[in-house]
Parts: sequence; C-alpha cells; structure tokens
Amino acid sequence: MSNFSHQLHSSYGHPVLRHWAANINAFSTYTFVYPVFISDNPDANEEIASLPGQRRIGTQHLLEYLAPAIAAGLKSVLLFGVLSGSEKKDSIGSLASQPGNPIPPAIELLRQAHPNLLIACDVCLCAYTSHGHCGVLDSDGRIDSAFSARRIADSAIYYAKAGAHVVAPSDMMDGRVREIKEALQDRSLLDRVAVLSYACKFASAFYGPFRDAAQSAPSFGDRSRYQLPPRSAALAIRAAERDVDEGADMLMVKPGTAYLDIVSQVHQKFPNHPLAIYHVSGEFAMLWHGAKAGAFDFKRISLEVFGSMLRAGANIIISYATPMALEWIREDSLV
Ligand code: PBG
Repeated sequence: MSNFSHQLHSSYGHPVLRHWAANINAFSTYTFVYPVFISDNPDANEEIASLPGQRRIGTQHLLEYLAPAIAAGLKSVLLFGVLSGSEKKDSIGSLASQPGNPIPPAIELLRQAHPNLLIACDVCLCAYTSHGHCGVLDSDGRIDSAFSARRIADSAIYYAKAGAHVVAPSDMMDGRVREIKEALQDRSLLDRVAVLSYACKFASAFYGPFRDAAQSAPSFGDRSRYQLPPRSAALAIRAAERDVDEGADMLMVKPGTAYLDIVSQVHQKFPNHPLAIYHVSGEFAMLWHGAKAGAFDFKRISLEVFGSMLRAGANIIISYATPMALEWIREDSLV
C-alpha cells in the first residue's frame, strides 16, 4: 500500500496551490475560495432564498455570474452540483459519477474561460442520493463505509478527469482520502489533483441554509453518525491525524466561527499542511441578517470574523462573502 502522506507532487501543480503551500496567514485574493452551486439545468439562474446573494446557476449563466468576482481577483472556486429533479437521484447516488452530473461541463467552461482559476470540487453523494445521506446505506439503514468510500472515489475520479485541480471529499468517513488517492494513482492523476479533506467537520446546525441550497437535506435521520460531535476536540484531532495519514494534501475545519480552538490545534499539530476553514452557510446568513437588522456593519463584522480565522491559523477561507471580500481587498479597505 502506498504511503501517500509522503508524496508531495499534487501540492504544487497549480499556481494557487503553490501560493497556499506558503501557508501565509494574511488577507489576499488567494485567501478566499468562493462556493458555487451548479445546477444540472443549463438555463438555471435561481436565487437561493436562504443564502442571500447566492444563486443556483447553470452553465449558460455561470461566466456572467462569476464575472464581478473574477474582475476583483477571484483565484479559486469550490463547486457543488445540484440536481433539478428528485427522480434523478437513487440509493447509490449514480449521478455523482456519471453524465447528467452538472460539474464536468462547468469545469470545462471555467477552464477554458479562466485558465488560471483553481477549480476545487466538493465530492459527496448527498446531492445525488434519494435519501440525502452522504454515503450508501446498508440494509439496516446505516452507512456502508467501504462501499461509500468507493463511490466517493468514483465521483472524485469523474471530476479529476474533467479537469478539477482539487477534489474535496466532504462526507468525513474513514478511508475515503486513501481510496481517492489510490484511484488517482491507478489513473496516473496523482500529480494533477490535490485532495483537500474536510477533516474536522462537525455535525452542525450552521449547515441549515446549505441543505436548502443544494437540495440535499437527509430525508430521515441526521448526519451525526458520520460528522463530529460538536464538543469533541479529541475526535476532531484524531480525524485530522487520520486524513493526514491517508495522504490529504490540505485540511479543513468546518464550520469556522464556533470552532477556532480546533483550527488552532490542527494548525499547531500540522503546521505544514495548508489549512482551510469553511465559513458555512449559517454563519454567513447570521452575519447577513444581523447586519440587515441593524445589529452591526456587515463589512466590519465579516473582517473581524475572517481575521480571527487567520489569527487561529487558517490560511484559506471558504466563504459566500468572497466576492465582497475581494472588493474590500481591491479597495485596500481592510480595516
Ligand atoms: C455535504 C456538505 C455540507 C456542506 C458542505 N458539504 C452539508 C452537510 O454536511 O450537511 C455545508 C456547507 C455550508 O453550510 O455552507 N456534502
């Protein structure tokens, strides 16, 4: 079995990855990654009511949707696929790795239009399974971990072949980073695709608006069997150790605001791995609605929160406020 934790070539193939490899904890256009919800309906251009300013977007409108952020210096996106009809979903999430999945056409379009943009893809089954869980279930309704890891690797390979620079498995289960690395190795893609692991992902109420955006809420049960218990720092650190051991190139803590102690611990334990923090849908919505209600100023509160993430040791911030943050950087008005 290969020891992927000692193979570095996927970590610096792209200029944005090389920048991230410097682990600089300061605001720049490289700091921010913009999550984008790609619909399988090419004509889609739908507001997401729960996520102000964000849209479910089809390939026909994607370039126009990203144009302002690109003009402000956007360096990277994190793509999420959304299926427009529940009849397209099945128990094993077939469309996570087959034509009909909206991600490969979006990758192709973005790579042509913006050759320097780093394209990361969320890799998960939850948007493609009829039950909305992140893995495949066994006859008792529990996650079949080994089979799920293989399905997740299938999806990662599908995106890798389409030209993704980074694959980001978000299910949080054992073995899936290694499964993805082995699948990449088998297809000679190891040096072209880096793995960003959602290593420390907590079972969080902050994901509420996202499940509406991605139309991926579980139809029964919840995700606490495969996401971390919010009060356990110990398990979070073990999850990061597991993923480093399996060969993750970069790590992530998610959500952000309520988990800065975890960011700090992971940063201290693995100072040589780029560390992303996901400022998730509920955190963004909280700031947006609070500012709208007059409680505080959106820009000031966002920069305070993002600044605290850098202070804790993150060097990559995944945020729905990315287009705005890039504008603030461009105006040189980061107070
Ligand atoms: C699951 C996934 C989720 C998010 C990213 N990937 C939701 C979940 O785990 O329930 C949440 C992101 C956000 O809230 O902004 N594939």
